[in-house]
Amino acid sequence: MSYDQIAEFYDLVAARQSLSTGPALADVLRGLPMTDAPVVEVGAGTGRVTRTIAAAIADVDILAVEPSAPMRAVLTSRAWADPDLRARVTVSARSAPDLDLPGRILCAVVFGVAGHLERPERTELWRRLSQRLVPGGCLVVELMGSARAMPPTRTVHETVGRLTYEWWVSAEPVGDGVVRHVNWWRVLEGDRVCREVGDEHLWHVLEPEELAAESGLRARTVGTGADSLVVLEA
Ligand SMILES: C[S@@+](CC[C@H](N)C(=O)[O-])C[C@H]1O[C@@H](n2cnc3c(N)ncnc32)[C@H](O)[C@@H]1O
Repeated sequence: MSYDQIAEFYDLVAARQSLSTGPALADVLRGLPMTDAPVVEVGAGTGRVTRTIAAAIADVDILAVEPSAPMRAVLTSRAWADPDLRARVTVSARSAPDLDLPGRILCAVVFGVAGHLERPERTELWRRLSQRLVPGGCLVVELMGSARAMPPTRTVHETVGRLTYEWWVSAEPVGDGVVRHVNWWRVLEGDRVCREVGDEHLWHVLEPEELAAESGLRARTVGTGADSLVVLEA
């Protein structure tokens, strides 16, 4: 799935998501052992979670991996704009599971990405990450998404300058725990639609038990409801 078309709008959604899952992620990170091993963030998008990671644990380097060039442009710009991030965040253009990983990893953060991957890709990703974890390290996975059908629904309505941005989403289960999402953004000036940008992708709806089976790690859920995260640890 490519985020190239919708990258320009991503931060309008990301702000809200950061508020919901950010505190749970920060709690997990603050409980990790002290070490100089880096955090790896897979599918870092525009860097909203990168900022949360950096704020939660000082002095740890972050490898932020993001294959979409427009998403990565925002990520790099965000890292460049902040002296702390600039010193600590290394941006990579690779795609999971084919990542160029450091020898030791304190934690891997995988937010909003696992459902884009097929099972063999996920299994390979968990294997490559987990074999590098330092003692007490973990993988933190945000599963995002439900298996339920959803009619076209407006989920974002924000104003920037004289324009209004709307994000519409629909979801249709297509079997085997896979949901087809159709997204489109509308940019309006008053009632006039200036631009419409859409994309469609399949999303694998995953449960913590599946992640445990795929990774051979223990799965623990933190947070509640739609804002919960899965922590995978030895
Ligand atoms: C829903 S966004 C999440 C971005 C960010 N993690 C966040 O939570 O704000 C999914 C991101 O995963 C990236 N992605 C998709 N497939 C990927 C892959 N195979 N390897 C790494 N990143 C991937 C996309 O380019 C996109 O930036």
